[in-house]
Amino acid sequence: MNLSPELIEKEIREAGAIAMDYFSNLNDLAISKKSPRDLVTEADVAVESFLHKKLQLHYPQFGFWGEESGKSNNQSKRWVVDPIDGTHSFSKGQYFWGISVALEIDEEIIFGAVYAPALDDYYMAQKGLGAWKNNQPIKVSSEGDLANAMISTGFACLRDYMDDNNLDRFCRVARATTGQRRFGSAALDLCLVADGQVDAFWEQALNLYDVAAGALIAQEAGGSLTDFKGHKGLFPEQILVTNGKLLDQLLVLM
Ligand code: IPD
Ligand code: CA
Ligand code: CA
Repeated sequence: MNLSPELIEKEIREAGAIAMDYFSNLNDLAISKKSPRDLVTEADVAVESFLHKKLQLHYPQFGFWGEESGKSNNQSKRWVVDPIDGTHSFSKGQYFWGISVALEIDEEIIFGAVYAPALDDYYMAQKGLGAWKNNQPIKVSSEGDLANAMISTGFACLRDYMDDNNLDRFCRVARATTGQRRFGSAALDLCLVADGQVDAFWEQALNLYDVAAGALIAQEAGGSLTDFKGHKGLFPEQILVTNGKLLDQLLVLM
């Protein structure tokens, strides 16, 4: 596979600069709603359009699936892109949002990058080659006791008015842990597990573009990747990522 992580990083950082231009002028930011609880801004559209153009220029053999523009060309070998993961946070001037880019070849994620421009943190992984943050190797935490753990989650299920709204599950896990966080970007949540800053993350009702890159980064950092029943693999609709040591203790609470 003739892939240049350096070239991809250059383009993602350029996309980050585009996002930061909008981020520094939020009073003028055009915001619309895809559904009552799902925002999209002109920054999302501009970042995705830039990445679509650049990735197709450098890698014309691959198709594209972006959250805002949909699917185009080859869908068996494709880029899977969330231009701004954490749009609501972005629109409020918060720093925790990221650009997520993954390459999926025949249903396997082989490259993933998540860039947080406001934090200037760049996470990257290639299948079988480890996980990196700002060009330094990263790995999951060594916390083996759920009672000492910090977990994070999200509530996409509330956005989708699901019956299983994660609130009872959150209460069960919150009572069993020391720290609980809701950061607002699933892509970055996954990177924090990879970096050992959080010990486990779970969420329902996500899409492949939210999690494809972050899940590979977490796996390459030594994390476990399952659904809520412990089936191994990437299930965007029911994702559970842990440092590996906490998986069994969390499964009984899911
Ligand atoms: C959202 C973030 C959030 C998650 C939502 C996602 P978006 O992505 O990842 O953490 O809870 O379900 O939709 O919409 O800002 O790209
Ligand atoms: Ca997203
Ligand atoms: Ca998004």
